Amino acid sequence: MTVGEEFVQEQRAKLASDPHRPQYHFLPPANWMNDPNGLIQWKGRYHLFYQYNPRGPFHGDIHWGHAVSDDLLHWQDLPAALTPTAGGLDEGGCWSGCIVNNDGQPALFYTAVHPQVVCMATGDDELVRWRKSEANPLIERPPADIDAGDPWHFRDPYVWKEGDTWYMIIGTQVIGQGGAILLYRSGDLLAWEYVGPLFAGDRYQREPFWTATMWECPNLLRFENRDVLIVSFQDLEARKLLYTGYFTGAYQDHRFESQAQGVLEYGAYSYAPQVMRDEGGRYLLFTWLWEGRSEEAQRAAGWAGVMSLPRVVSVDNQGRLCMTPAPELRSLRDRNVAFHDLEVTPDGPPVLQDVQGDALEIEAEFAGTTATRFGLAFRRSPDGEEETRLLYDVEQETLWVDRRRASADPEAHRAAPDSHRQVERMPVACEDGKLRLHLFLDRSVVEVYVNERAVFSTRIYPTRPDSTGLRLLSEGGETRVGCLNVWHMESIW
Ligand code: FRU
Repeated sequence: MTVGEEFVQEQRAKLASDPHRPQYHFLPPANWMNDPNGLIQWKGRYHLFYQYNPRGPFHGDIHWGHAVSDDLLHWQDLPAALTPTAGGLDEGGCWSGCIVNNDGQPALFYTAVHPQVVCMATGDDELVRWRKSEANPLIERPPADIDAGDPWHFRDPYVWKEGDTWYMIIGTQVIGQGGAILLYRSGDLLAWEYVGPLFAGDRYQREPFWTATMWECPNLLRFENRDVLIVSFQDLEARKLLYTGYFTGAYQDHRFESQAQGVLEYGAYSYAPQVMRDEGGRYLLFTWLWEGRSEEAQRAAGWAGVMSLPRVVSVDNQGRLCMTPAPELRSLRDRNVAFHDLEVTPDGPPVLQDVQGDALEIEAEFAGTTATRFGLAFRRSPDGEEETRLLYDVEQETLWVDRRRASADPEAHRAAPDSHRQVERMPVACEDGKLRLHLFLDRSVVEVYVNERAVFSTRIYPTRPDSTGLRLLSEGGETRVGCLNVWHMESIW
């Protein structure tokens, strides 16, 4: 074996034995990943591209990684689809973008840096080999009447077709005002005409939530009688990625009119989602979940960044965006343990003694309570030194996610912005007096779907191999759990 081969083997073994590496979430074989890009179902197969650094587990030298799947669950790793060209427009990186089907020809739009310009590439029939267009850059600067900063921020093209016309939206900032989404159109995907701002934020407005100073990764979803604009908010001054929001309303006459808005996902680790419409007409979303552990720990681990589970996106009649786990995920369910009609008391026995694990799916229906707070704890060590708690505060109608004891390692949450928020909150009301929690635990990844609608996600890094326990919680009264289903999940690798 050569020294090189030995190194590769060592790396693989290290990655395989890493207790924080997820088992049924997508991530590249090694190194850095951020945003999902170019999501498309092409000839029946799902393609997932993503921001990727082949040189290590840190952001830099961004390529488009590529994976393909027949079932949305098991992914085959393919060679990088886009590589920065030395001396070219994208020498500084191939940043986020999308792929569309142009009459059977795959067309990829991405952000070349620096400066940030819109470029295109066309693909072969397997979406494996891509040729960058000679017409690049297709859009070489922000419109003259927009002060997008120096250097400007102008990126993440999202393209769709209406009739014979192609439209593109791009994220930007307007100095002194806030984030904005700009609209372009084209007849041939090559020549783009600026139409005007589609929708803009106000950096001074704090309610119902702050939309920061720069908007990136826009997606426009067109439902039957409503449109949804999804945007990720960045605070350029603090150099912080904040969170993703959505606006529901109407896209008409080249403007977006917002009627309702919300935070797409609670928790400090989710950012830059992308949505695709699959061949069955579903809107499917993946989002990037970044790491919480320190940069040194990420470098030592050899990987950083995970893709969320695939989610089905819809809007309800109140204009709220709803996300549910893709039904395909059920096929990963292995051994099941089910409990019915449990009465949980403040000092009741730890009823879930017989189930444990770090790769579980849990469905819990809380069906009535006299408690002030109730919920579930997971990744609990037998002595309780480590555990993560999910607690619903009845009076405040808020779900609390308490990570104060998630890990005995004080460095565990160094890297995340706002990582000091070890207790995070999500406002959510019970429905018909019930709270349904649907959890996916996958080692360091936690995704919680609440009332089949809202999502909370977080990252945890327990240190102890025996931190695998579960228990139900009820404080200040009793709580009835209608049913509790726990599945051990199969690995997708
Ligand atoms: C979002 C983002 C995009 C950009 C990419 C670079 O996380 O900042 O706006 O295209 O990441 O990797």
